[in-house]
Amino acid sequence: MTVPLTVVIFGASGDLTARKLIPALYNLALKNRLPEGTRVVGVARSDYSDAAYRDHIGERVRDAFLKSGVVWDATAWAKFAANLFYVPTDVTKPGGIDPIKKWFDGVEGSGGGQRLYYLSVSPELYPQLGTTLGEAGFSTETGGFRRLVIEKPFGHDRTTAKALNDVLHKHWREDQLYRIDHYLGKETVQNILIFRFANTLFEPLWNYQYIDHVQITVAEEVPVGKRAAYYDTSGVLRDMFQSHILQVMTLVAMESPARYTADALRNEKMKVLDAISIQTPDRARGSVVVGQYEGYHQEPGVPAGSKTPTFAAVKLQVQNGRWKNVPFYLRSGKALKSRYSEIMIQFHCPPHLMFPLPKDEVLQCNRMTLVLQPNEGIKLNFQTKVPDVDGVRLQPRDLSFDYKEAYSQTPIPEAYERLLLDAIHGDASLFMRSDEIERAWEIMDPILAASERDDAPAPQSYPVGSDGPACSAAMLAADGRKWQPLA
Ligand code: BG6
Repeated sequence: MTVPLTVVIFGASGDLTARKLIPALYNLALKNRLPEGTRVVGVARSDYSDAAYRDHIGERVRDAFLKSGVVWDATAWAKFAANLFYVPTDVTKPGGIDPIKKWFDGVEGSGGGQRLYYLSVSPELYPQLGTTLGEAGFSTETGGFRRLVIEKPFGHDRTTAKALNDVLHKHWREDQLYRIDHYLGKETVQNILIFRFANTLFEPLWNYQYIDHVQITVAEEVPVGKRAAYYDTSGVLRDMFQSHILQVMTLVAMESPARYTADALRNEKMKVLDAISIQTPDRARGSVVVGQYEGYHQEPGVPAGSKTPTFAAVKLQVQNGRWKNVPFYLRSGKALKSRYSEIMIQFHCPPHLMFPLPKDEVLQCNRMTLVLQPNEGIKLNFQTKVPDVDGVRLQPRDLSFDYKEAYSQTPIPEAYERLLLDAIHGDASLFMRSDEIERAWEIMDPILAASERDDAPAPQSYPVGSDGPACSAAMLAADGRKWQPLA
């Protein structure tokens, strides 16, 4: 007999639970991927009964489904909701864990069960919750596994991230901890590894001999909106670079692990992070520029005079044999022209060009673009001969692979589906290990210091709906390069 599974969501009345976690679990149930009889229990302070919580969440999920044109199946939801429960309690208060214990005693009885706890609460509560759960015996694996999933942000800098790891490790083994970076749950991000290591064509070119530089862009169209309370203390460098962008960069730069297992993969990612040299804040000044969109100060909750960057461009080097002198240019921002994320590999130009180019024209040398979202796919840009013209004229054109076209019957799932399922199966490949997190902060700390210290220039403002501030283009221009325009 299989041991029953319970997914416990702390922070069950929050936005992430309604927007991502419950829809992901429901989709997994629809696809028959959850273990038979899986229970989901929400925990938060708001006073819902099971029935009221089911109605509340059901409405949110239904609205989201209908909005995105997905048919709503009330019977399927009712079946899922029958295993959805709610325990109102404040776990931060003394005795706050007791109602959950009682609930488990009622449903698990002496048979035990497997449990996946998900911390979708305010990050300041992670240490306290991790400890409270541990002290209450919730990490002890009697009768089934106990795993703890932790949302980002994991720390605010290296010191706080390390302190959080230390606190958690008092009650949880490393292999019980699943630190989420939802970018790793994206199909296109995982496809970087398939593209590189399940093909022979590209890997021989994937090094300094053929690659001039790499650009990673995560552009967002949305402004900060109602998230200022979190965002203003974080800024784009913590929110996007320390986690998502550095993680994507490790997949682009790493060597092939011998096996597709969590530790083999994470060891290779860690080697990339290790090879990114740690700069002093003085030196880091030259490798970061920051911007802030016009009107950021008018967002609700943004303090007057805030210098929090909503855009940044960063230049990093991976100091190893593969990437000798190949800069990685990373950029991300809010309130930009479009929602668009890509990895662009710029190959070297041919050593000699025998074709004459029109005056003032520069040859666009080969580029490979892995579009992460929204039009997921891969483009290889190369020169072609323009037909039927006098003499020889060159034009760049694309060879393209489009995910939606190639897999038209299979919509790309939300990242959280994959990550929740992996955590249930005990596969930590797509989760960050403690050493990765700490090293990523170590890389970012001097960059943050360079942009945050008192004598740092204020972030350059940029218009909403633009490509970002002028300093971003200037950073690449100083190296004789240009950003690929935002799609
Ligand atoms: C989150 C950040 O981790 O990622 C947000 O906190 C950001 O600020 C979001 O908007 C972007 O995710 P996606 O999947 O929409 O690109």
